[in-house]
Amino acid sequence: MACFVINGQNKIEGEMTVQGAKNGALPLLAASVLVRGKTVLSGCPQLTDITAAANILTYLGCKVSACGDVMSIDSESASGFAVTDSLMHEMRSSIVFLGALLGRFGKAELTAPGGCEIGLRPIDLHLDAMRTLGAVIDETGGRLICSCPDGLKGARITLSFPSVGATENILLAACTAKGETIIVNAAREPEIKELAGFLNSCGADIKGAGESIIRINGVKKLTACEHRIGQDRIAAVTYMAAAAVTGGSIRLHFKNSEMLMPVAEPFEKSGCRIIQDENGVWLKAPERLKKLGMIRTMPYPGFPTDSQADLAVMASVARGTSTVVENIFENRFKYVGELRRMGAQIRTENRVAVIEGVRKLNGAKVVSHDLRGGSALVVAALCAEGTTIVYGIHHIDRGYEKIETQLNGLGAEIFRKE
Ligand code: EPZ
Repeated sequence: MACFVINGQNKIEGEMTVQGAKNGALPLLAASVLVRGKTVLSGCPQLTDITAAANILTYLGCKVSACGDVMSIDSESASGFAVTDSLMHEMRSSIVFLGALLGRFGKAELTAPGGCEIGLRPIDLHLDAMRTLGAVIDETGGRLICSCPDGLKGARITLSFPSVGATENILLAACTAKGETIIVNAAREPEIKELAGFLNSCGADIKGAGESIIRINGVKKLTACEHRIGQDRIAAVTYMAAAAVTGGSIRLHFKNSEMLMPVAEPFEKSGCRIIQDENGVWLKAPERLKKLGMIRTMPYPGFPTDSQADLAVMASVARGTSTVVENIFENRFKYVGELRRMGAQIRTENRVAVIEGVRKLNGAKVVSHDLRGGSALVVAALCAEGTTIVYGIHHIDRGYEKIETQLNGLGAEIFRKE
């Protein structure tokens, strides 16, 4: 089993350019089958989730090629609308192909994703929205057989929760639906703005992305274009946390650093100095972190659930008691058991973790159960005394591009062992 071997207590210091965003890239890859012609995406991170999406596109008949961080997808020859179980199971978020396939072919056949490591993750909001737009969906045996006998028609859709994936699916399906679609209580994450921006460049008419109400006027045709994928705000926080727990300093080259506003306060509370400008973020950590107070995960622009575990590691070595409340997913504290093996003092009850900071963590053998919990274990290992072995790193490879190379470049000692 592949693992990371990490010798801790080296300061993370230096500068780096943050990778392209996984969660920004995935809906754009799905969109490339909706739009006609050749989409060229630059800044595409090399990650197993991205490969999984590319495999789906190839299976659907798109011509996909990659050169460095540029991926080209020619959808002209695409004719498939059914994705096999095995391809769907490679990546949970492949449900975002639903809206794209319905928009392009008026039909789609996918496997319903089940729960995953972080929660039950139902897709009721996605399916209800597609039905409101005119789709007929048969859910027998975990397969979603979808068709639109009368085509897709614009409608008002009120989301009971601002789901990121459901908002993306609605955008994709509604772009070429007849008439106007209004999404009420839409997700406001930067990835929504990016998808809408890409679709508008392809000829769509979407207004209000990034706000709670989005209006989409259906257009007849979408034509592929070139797009540079935005940088990964979640990966950025992981590298900031790595510098914070090791008493280091880091300069991140990151365009649109205002996306990091929702995390600035807990970093500052912990005693880190942060300077943000149009070129990125600079962080300087104190010798020992102060308690972070109360962190509550919320939809954007609230504190992101995907960064909760990294900040919990900071709280684990801070002076004093901090609390993390996870409001988005019901099972996002699996990493806590592993952190405890490293000496962290954390009590959890349902969605709340109370963290008493300790002076230092100790190296241990730990297992990553999910992507962000995995990145947090790496962060913990960087500041722990001795050697930590992190197993289950295939989770980390889903979202962090060459994390070991990046961290070694910043002064860490981390090796991948196959
Ligand atoms: C996206 O997941 C991200 N994934 C997640 O990143 C991220 O944690 C999440 O948004 C929240 O920011 C991608 O972008 C690929 P949601 P998504 O729909 O779209 C409930 C990572 O580590 N819900 O906003 O699946 C759901 O169960 C990942 O990179 C329903 O009840 O998130 C959850 O409790 C993990 N019914 C909440 O809403 C639905 O139909 C938020 O989910 C849909 C969602």
